[in-house]
Amino acid sequence: MKKVWWKHGVIYQIYPRSFKDSNHDGIGDINGITECLDYLQDLGIDGIWLSPIYRSPMYDFGYDVSDYCDIDPVFGTMRDFKHLVKEAEKRNIAIIMDMVFNHTSHLHPWFLESRSSKDNPKRDWYIWHPGKKRKVPNNWMAAFGGRAWEWDPLTQEYYLHLFTKQQPDLNWRNPNVKKAMFDVLRFWMDNGVKGFRFDVINYIMKDPLFRNNPYKFRLTYPRRHDLQYHLYDRNQPEIHDILKELRHLLDSYGQIMSVGETYPNEGEREPLMAASYLGNNDELHLSFDFSTIYISFSAKEFTSILIQWYNAIGNKGWPSHVLSNHDQSRAITRIAKNDLQKAKLLAVLLLTQKGTPFIYYGEEIGMVDGKIPYRYIQDPVGKKYWPFHTGRDKARTPMQWDATSYAGFSTAKPWLPVNPDYTRTNVALQSKNAESMMQFYRQLIALRKSRKELYAGEIEFLPGSDDVMLYKRVWNNDTCLVALNFSSSKRKINFDSTCRVLLSSYQKNIIDVQTITLDPFEAVICSK
Ligand code: GLC
Repeated sequence: MKKVWWKHGVIYQIYPRSFKDSNHDGIGDINGITECLDYLQDLGIDGIWLSPIYRSPMYDFGYDVSDYCDIDPVFGTMRDFKHLVKEAEKRNIAIIMDMVFNHTSHLHPWFLESRSSKDNPKRDWYIWHPGKKRKVPNNWMAAFGGRAWEWDPLTQEYYLHLFTKQQPDLNWRNPNVKKAMFDVLRFWMDNGVKGFRFDVINYIMKDPLFRNNPYKFRLTYPRRHDLQYHLYDRNQPEIHDILKELRHLLDSYGQIMSVGETYPNEGEREPLMAASYLGNNDELHLSFDFSTIYISFSAKEFTSILIQWYNAIGNKGWPSHVLSNHDQSRAITRIAKNDLQKAKLLAVLLLTQKGTPFIYYGEEIGMVDGKIPYRYIQDPVGKKYWPFHTGRDKARTPMQWDATSYAGFSTAKPWLPVNPDYTRTNVALQSKNAESMMQFYRQLIALRKSRKELYAGEIEFLPGSDDVMLYKRVWNNDTCLVALNFSSSKRKINFDSTCRVLLSSYQKNIIDVQTITLDPFEAVICSK
């Protein structure tokens, strides 16, 4: 079997504004990332997914792109980018770009043209509608507040924006849009990019009849957007045709990876939807199942959603696993309630499942959610919905490198406040401490790399108990057993033969055992 980097490796997501500031303006940048490549190599990762670094007016911090083929000056230059790709390549690390297909910035030249007149050739590149009886065309709501339709006084029509009004939705029913976007992909592949993460890829096509979304009955959330079932503004069948063409293009360049953000209805688990975008192994290479967003720290729940995820994929494609990203409260806070032992267990879970694991920057040192006062909030979601939704800034605080001021992230005041725990939780301290979270991640990734059964093998869940999750990873005659004790008390496990403990979240000595007593929240990996 040949090792395929995106299948058998580990991917690390960087939120560039917050990783490392090399030019002392308080905002992370490309050269900052390049400076940290040795750190990432030591950690053992194989690919870096960069949240958007294209030119952008930053209404949604880069997810509103005004030029897809240039770097925003806040992050550096195209030269810096090429240097990053080259330095990453030397370390066998692939660079993955974040591709925003659903919408552009309202300042993108395409949109400026489109809105200039009804007969502009780019008019149809976006979704325009005259409205109904001087009212909005339908009941669709924007994820970031209010209606999804904005009235444009110049041409007297509405345009659609599923996010902020500075993010008009592209019309993917127009073949020229596809052509232009595929050219963008070519541009980055020609510049050495090895993969793409596709932003809200399941949103890119809309119902051609613009039918109303049905409302859910429960009133649980102040965002009206979340009370709708997104039947007509997401998951339209034609998306699959686009993805087949996309796959064809990527495959023609060699081993280029694609991973889709396939977003579920708020509060719902939709593994079948996420898996559907893998097609018959002829659409995306990977897609995210966000069932892990809406979960508590429970062996039963995790086992059940993971089994559903594997069943949804079957052998049509390859799974991926993610617990944290730039849009959600960090898993250590959300699921583990800031408990380090629980977080280590989650790390073992993430890195020993079958499929590609995605680590979010700072996860490896146990960075927790920031507590950001309203006056410092930057995220449009937080600004709009405070205090019901405090926004996404809490998961975007500066990376904690050391105990110097601003956590070694920058010498200038960072764009978001540094977590006050940085003097205790940082890379420099943890690299000196054999029992730290970071060393644990390193060992875990190294172990995963060294054993085929862990990075490529099949998975089989074994009957555990209500609070112990037990599974096997198998490759030919090699088997690893993973046991995760979700309970706050000790739990005894009997294996059917002698096993060797390869790694424990309690730093136990490596021993051969047939029976093992797991400490509270302990995670162990054993070989048979
Ligand atoms: C995705 C991104 C998020 C962004 C949104 C609009 O959900 O992950 O950060 O705000 O799309 O592009």
